[in-house]
Amino acid sequence: MPAPALPSQVVAALRCSVCASPVQLTDRTLHCPQRHTFDLARQGYVNLLHARIPAGTADTAPMVEARAAFLASGAYAPLADAIASAAGPCSGLIIDAGAGPGYYLAHVLSKAPSAIGLALDVSAVALRRAARAHPRLGAAVWNLWEPWPVADGVASVVLDVFSPRNAAEYHRVLAPGGRLVVASPLPGHLAELGDLVLAVDARKDERLSTTLGSHFVRESTREIVSTVPFTATQVHDVVAMGPTGFHLDRDHRRERLATTPGGPVTLAVAVSVWRRKDF
Ligand SMILES: C[S@@+](CC[C@H](N)C(=O)[O-])C[C@H]1O[C@@H](n2cnc3c(N)ncnc32)[C@H](O)[C@@H]1O
Ligand SMILES: [Zn+2]
Repeated sequence: MPAPALPSQVVAALRCSVCASPVQLTDRTLHCPQRHTFDLARQGYVNLLHARIPAGTADTAPMVEARAAFLASGAYAPLADAIASAAGPCSGLIIDAGAGPGYYLAHVLSKAPSAIGLALDVSAVALRRAARAHPRLGAAVWNLWEPWPVADGVASVVLDVFSPRNAAEYHRVLAPGGRLVVASPLPGHLAELGDLVLAVDARKDERLSTTLGSHFVRESTREIVSTVPFTATQVHDVVAMGPTGFHLDRDHRRERLATTPGGPVTLAVAVSVWRRKDF
């Protein structure tokens, strides 16, 4: 299979992460006029980072494997559909902030035939998968808390699915009228799994409004709530892919998880749509 490359519209939207100049792609190297260069990895993503990332930030290989297996089981397919309908009939550039293996971005692209996707994530392991998740998807390793290596106003949609939220950068990279689609867990999400997962803060939605309200106006919120029979493998994977996946060796989680049976599990996720404020 030929190595995936970056779509030209993604290259046009990217900026050098050292000097913020536009970049060009020659062979498999991105370069700017100041001669800063970034090679495409064999798997098709580009790493624009030049600072070390604290441990416990980027999803690890076992977490990404668990996430890919869990998503492939179809358990979150209704969520992917809800995210695609929240994104609407979009065209132009869709940026997925904290895209992980690119499952949701690929799904949105499959419903939006003229759109192009940019997956940003600090986990190179995750982006190896994202870069192959859809032919119209490009992937760049970056820390979302730093100013993004992306031009102003280039995106029609930003997606954030269970990932860190940088409202100022969402606002800067979105075009006027652009929309932000956020998926975040509701209280009760995965509650049957007890302390194998992090409990969802009852005031999470309020905190979301505080984080985003300075730059965005909430347009809608849809709650996706259901009880789904999970297999023991799905239980394992949903725990191992989440934040406690960094700490499976604490509190005997790994041993407990190995003997946790399947059973009904509550899924409770809010998908909210936010319109960019024009200042
Ligand atoms: C809970 S996962 C969600 C992944 C994907 N959106 C999904 O739902 O399948 C959070 C993702 O955010 C990424 N992440 C965490 N901190 C980050 C940061 N500071 N900058 C960029 N990505 C980050 C992780 O590597 C991980 O892929
Ligand atoms: Zn440069």
